[in-house]
Amino acid sequence: MQCLAKAASWLCEKDAAVQDAAAPQLTGATLLDRQLKLLNLTNLSAEDFSRKEGVVADQKWLELAISSQRKVEPSLWMLYREWVDDVIDGQVEHVDAWHHFVVARAFGLNPSLTKGVKPGEAADLLALLAEDRKLGDSTANESLESWLEESREAFDFRFRKAHHRCFDGLSFAEEGDWQGSFSFVQIADPQLGMLHGDRSWEEERAMLSLAVQHINKLKPRFLLVSGDMSNAWPVGPQADAKAAAKQVNAVKEVLREVDSSIPIVLVAGNHDIGQVPSPNELDLYSSRWGDDYFSFWVGGVYFMVINSQFYMDSSKTPNQRKDQDTWIEAQFEALKKRKPKHAVVLSHVPPFIEEPDEPQGWANWETEPRARIVKLAKDAGVRLWLCGHYHGNADACLDDLEVVTCASVGSNINWIEEPGVVATSTRPNFEKCVGEPPFFADAQHSGLRIVRFDDEGSRHDWFLLADMPPTLDDAFRQDGNFNGSPRRRRRRTSDVVKQRLGLPGPEESSPPRSL
Ligand SMILES: [Fe+2]
Ligand SMILES: [Fe+2]
Repeated sequence: MQCLAKAASWLCEKDAAVQDAAAPQLTGATLLDRQLKLLNLTNLSAEDFSRKEGVVADQKWLELAISSQRKVEPSLWMLYREWVDDVIDGQVEHVDAWHHFVVARAFGLNPSLTKGVKPGEAADLLALLAEDRKLGDSTANESLESWLEESREAFDFRFRKAHHRCFDGLSFAEEGDWQGSFSFVQIADPQLGMLHGDRSWEEERAMLSLAVQHINKLKPRFLLVSGDMSNAWPVGPQADAKAAAKQVNAVKEVLREVDSSIPIVLVAGNHDIGQVPSPNELDLYSSRWGDDYFSFWVGGVYFMVINSQFYMDSSKTPNQRKDQDTWIEAQFEALKKRKPKHAVVLSHVPPFIEEPDEPQGWANWETEPRARIVKLAKDAGVRLWLCGHYHGNADACLDDLEVVTCASVGSNINWIEEPGVVATSTRPNFEKCVGEPPFFADAQHSGLRIVRFDDEGSRHDWFLLADMPPTLDDAFRQDGNFNGSPRRRRRRTSDVVKQRLGLPGPEESSPPRSL
């Protein structure tokens, strides 16, 4: 009789046990241990476990499986093992996370509750479920195989919900009606690898993980990740595809911890698709993160995600840029008829960072598409445009359109010059523009932005990971000081920028400003 430890290693070690046809025999006693261990791992009482909605295997089924002293069918073990080796490896990015995921999926639990489940345990449980027709009505082998195929889709689908230029579950039909105030969280540039030049990324990963813990407590309507998920270039003279793949895996591993009720909306950054993207990089991006441009609705608010790299350098993708231009025009035309309560544009690189007619630099768009698309957005009623890329906060206005550049959730740059000086040069002069130390990646500097929509408009503010409001409502209720640390006085950032640019305030009439 094979003990579970050996069975588990049989699953893990590729060559040894495949030849041992008699290996995967488990006793009911072993199963009892495993099931109890699973219950412990999930932190749920047996009663709660059986009550979970959507649980395939209820407590009664578990008890029966245990008391009947059943042996697991070897071919089912073999199938799972072969599937993991031949199909999953190299395609699903985190094999450990995969085992947790399939067990959680089979039992209708959140994957965070099944951490610690070993490959052998996953195989054990799935084999039993397949034998008892809990995974489908056909033969055990067939239903296990098709269930695993579906699981593979579901495993990564969370990051590829943007497809066909829409976002799964956030269509106009599902989310087009205004239902009252709500908030979402924006994080920008997790960019694992930036701090240590791709040699390691522990600090950035830790900051992202801390942000996810806060996000799970805050429970925003959705999470916006404003691009540059990883640092290593996928293409170009400094490309390191291997490091990029590892960083993407690590980002996904952390983001998988985001509560499953919170959709994750991803924006393509220059580090994700390359400084000068080609069709190949666009394909790679979409296989990892879904569409690079699309629109969606949340609670009656319209959001448009733009691939801003087309407006930085589209020399290898002129047709793709034209397609996006056409799509943007059609979207804004349709928007004028729909007249949503609020409309927002999301891009990685801001169209402008301080003044609408500033010269083009490394952190704003080419001037022609900038003027054209910003005008289209304004005419369609867009009042808020959220970006990243700069690794610092900045805020700019054109009449009643506010362009907000969000600092990083990972590494921030210690800028000592104004954004309008730094961002409009071809390359920032680090000697002149950056203080000492040049970068920060700690909870006193990394943070996230909370954005709230009300009847009358939107509000937003930046919060350090070390100084987070206890709830979303608290974010705009008082003037900070959540952890006893002094905070700046909070004002509507648009008013601050308007004042600095000498533009009229909200009460005064504001003549249109040309770009
Ligand atoms: Fe970045
Ligand atoms: Fe960037």
